[in-house]
Amino acid sequence: MAFFKSRSKQKAGPVDRDHLPRHIAVIMDGNGRWAKRRGLPRKAGHKVGAEVFRTIATYCKDLGIAYLTVYAFSTENWKRPQDEVDAIMGLLKRYLLEAIDTMAKDNIRLRFLGDLTVLSPELQELAARTNAISATLDGFQANICLNYGGRDELLRAAQSFAADCVDGKYQEDALDSDLFETYLFSAGLPDPDLIIRPGGEQRISNFLLWQCAYAEFVFTETLWPDFKKEHLDAAIAEYQARHRRYGGV
Ligand code: FPP
Repeated sequence: MAFFKSRSKQKAGPVDRDHLPRHIAVIMDGNGRWAKRRGLPRKAGHKVGAEVFRTIATYCKDLGIAYLTVYAFSTENWKRPQDEVDAIMGLLKRYLLEAIDTMAKDNIRLRFLGDLTVLSPELQELAARTNAISATLDGFQANICLNYGGRDELLRAAQSFAADCVDGKYQEDALDSDLFETYLFSAGLPDPDLIIRPGGEQRISNFLLWQCAYAEFVFTETLWPDFKKEHLDAAIAEYQARHRRYGGV
């Protein structure tokens, strides 16, 4: 049986390093189930998941992928038990502190997509520090979606454009895709070419709703804490085996 659940009839070969996706996005799903299967608290799954993020981000950088975007915390995840939310925020703090020490040496940029104003002042300050360091770099960029929701992003963009119209900056008919994108959290980022969802579910879960318009999707049964470099290779090979037409023929 094929490792990856795929509707593609084409067989994925090895990764072609000359035709890599420029931007990969990942819904890091399955941490809770991974922990439950081991009789561990859910936060143990997030701890391993955060380490897998580090491994996969490093691998993306080494492969020559320009952008990796991960869904770390959604606008809906606040509904989770407080100790789980605290554990995820604690992991973010730890990884941001590590990033602040190492990102300049490794030429790795970090960017956050989402409304950070509801995070603790400490996390906001760490995010601001990583932003400042990133501004001095030009290498691989990891985007961390934090308190992010695709609908929230679109609503905010619409509100901001409407406010600019009221202020006389634009007429309403000035709005096109390029202008609209400047109002998104992802302003300036290329759209993801490949979106990977480990964990067995096959849905988008409010992730990058605008940006996913032409993305290729790969869904895998592997839970995120079990996700290895080989799984990324297989997803990229699957992406490369597909024929991207952008609505044309
Ligand atoms: C989804 O799995 C995962 C999350 C909501 C949290 C992801 C967060 C991390 C990996 C830690 C912090 C990240 C970084 C970038 C340092 P789930 O809990 O919904 O799993 P389940 O579907 O099995 O319950």
